[in-house]
Amino acid sequence: MATDGNLDVVVICGSLRKGSYNAALARTLPRLVPKTMKLRDAPPFDRMPHYNHDIQDADGFPAEVKVFADAIRSADGVIIVSPEYNWTIPGALKNAIDWVSRMKDQPFLNKPVALQSCAGGVLGGARMQYHMRQSLTSIDAILFGRPEILVTFAAKKFDEKTLALTDQPTIDIVTQQLAAFDKFIRRVKD
Ligand SMILES: Cc1cc2nc3c(=O)[nH]c(=O)nc-3n(C[C@H](O)[C@H](O)[C@H](O)COP(=O)(O)O)c2cc1C
Repeated sequence: MATDGNLDVVVICGSLRKGSYNAALARTLPRLVPKTMKLRDAPPFDRMPHYNHDIQDADGFPAEVKVFADAIRSADGVIIVSPEYNWTIPGALKNAIDWVSRMKDQPFLNKPVALQSCAGGVLGGARMQYHMRQSLTSIDAILFGRPEILVTFAAKKFDEKTLALTDQPTIDIVTQQLAAFDKFIRRVKD
């Protein structure tokens, strides 16, 4: 926690594409967070090699992995905003989690994590979220519960041209989640 009492929270976006709805939601968060929470983007993870223990043995952890892990380790909490790919976690993001999970000073240990997802369909990325809960619980992260943010039929919730989030009920519930996540982090912190 910063000396001013504000929380330092890292935002990880699971989609790599420019026109991503999840990235658009992540860009909306700074104006919806409580004044006591400051957000920063996670370093990129798309250049990490596919996890392979031999790489770790030969050269140690790749630089991108170390930088990504440091950002998580030094934060008070993490917000993951991600699509669902084929009913689960997108491969590039899962690869990043697999890499950092092998570190001695594992960055997700006791880390409060909130989840958000946007998807084209009716489930809003729910299956990704439940797989993410399972995966991050296996490495001792502390998962925030409710309200859940599942942005269904994402194309209808964002402006077609600017990708600004326009759906007021979504704006409201995201604002509620961020306020509740702020309280949650303070409650679970050592
Ligand atoms: C490889 C792939 C798999 C997908 N699988 C699912 C899925 O399982 N469930 C779902 O709701 N949408 C799925 N979609 C559609 C995504 O919800 C949609 O493309 C969404 O816009 C992706 O998020 P983004 O806009 O942040 O990139 C899939 C899309 C891709 C590219």
